[in-house]
Amino acid sequence: MNRALRIHVYGGPDALKIDSIAMPTAASGQVVVQVRAAGINGLDWKIRDGWLQNDFPLPLPATLGVEFAGEVIEVGQEVNGFAIGDRVMGPMSGLGAYADFVAIASNALVRIPASLTDERAAAIPVGALTAWQALFDAGELKRGQTVLIHGAAGGVGSFAVQFARRAGARVIATAQGINAGYLRGLGADEVIDYRTSPFWERTKDIDLVLDLVGGSALANSWQVITDTGKIVSTAAPDIAAHTPAGKHGIWFQMRPDAAQLAEIVGMVDQGAVKVEVSEVAALSDATAAIERNKTGHGPGKAVIVFQ
Ligand SMILES: NC(=O)c1ccc[n+]([C@@H]2O[C@H](COP(=O)([O-])OP(=O)(O)OC[C@H]3O[C@@H](n4cnc5c(N)ncnc54)[C@H](OP(=O)(O)O)[C@@H]3O)[C@@H](O)[C@H]2O)c1
Repeated sequence: MNRALRIHVYGGPDALKIDSIAMPTAASGQVVVQVRAAGINGLDWKIRDGWLQNDFPLPLPATLGVEFAGEVIEVGQEVNGFAIGDRVMGPMSGLGAYADFVAIASNALVRIPASLTDERAAAIPVGALTAWQALFDAGELKRGQTVLIHGAAGGVGSFAVQFARRAGARVIATAQGINAGYLRGLGADEVIDYRTSPFWERTKDIDLVLDLVGGSALANSWQVITDTGKIVSTAAPDIAAHTPAGKHGIWFQMRPDAAQLAEIVGMVDQGAVKVEVSEVAALSDATAAIERNKTGHGPGKAVIVFQ
């Protein structure tokens, strides 16, 4: 049986159903992976609630889920470098990771090192690639610069703090006070509790703001950047419309990149980068776990396990 967590209509938590769907087969260049764990992302409930239906219309029913870890069970033609039984991880190029079995292009995949459990592997692809690309490709962060990371304790921010620190930047993070120790452990030089302390009164001359929150966090950030500073947002697709004259605001979207992911996974394998799994939920509890992503959750990323 191939169970899949799908929406048939847009709506709240009740819109998610566990269905039995057809087994996928591997087309040329693809493998079929038995999913063991899949990372929960804000995109899940944004799609479920219908926030994105105008910009990204989906044929319904649609299986949610954008990243996974699992085991190759079928190899299509023209696939090099992967065999049945390999443990692999990756981002989907679209949706569909919340299923027992997925067919996926093999060139999007990275092998999971023995040091990594499926749960930890599933927490890496989207958060780590987004953090890396937003900081260094879109944000062009350099050694000696100062970066302010909003939403630093979440799935993207936890990687961004570590990558920015490793690159020699000074890292200021905003998060709930309860997460301050966690973020200092990842390398943040300063942590500002957004619930009790206006960050715009405590920071200035910021070279790069990585906005993982949007709303008032983004709106209050224009005043803290330098004249040549930038704001890169993964949370506000309309940032361009709100960018004041003379300021530099960039909407950023992650792109799958197996070589980049392999490099990051290598750092995790060597213990140079930490992966925090905030929660491991069974598929039967996935609806509630996705809702917890919307309403607040522990540091790092929650994953759904398929057993
Ligand atoms: N464009 C893309 O390609 C892309 C890719 C990945 C993710 N995203 C989006 O990027 C955003 C971040 O993703 P994520 O996976 O890291 O989400 P996440 O795990 O939910 O993390 C966001 C964190 O923001 C914190 N937060 C909430 N309100 C805040 C505020 N006012 N100031 C500072 N921190 C605040 C929360 O932590 P506390 O516990 O500290 O409150 C939460 O853990 C989401 O909107 C997601 O949909 C976009």
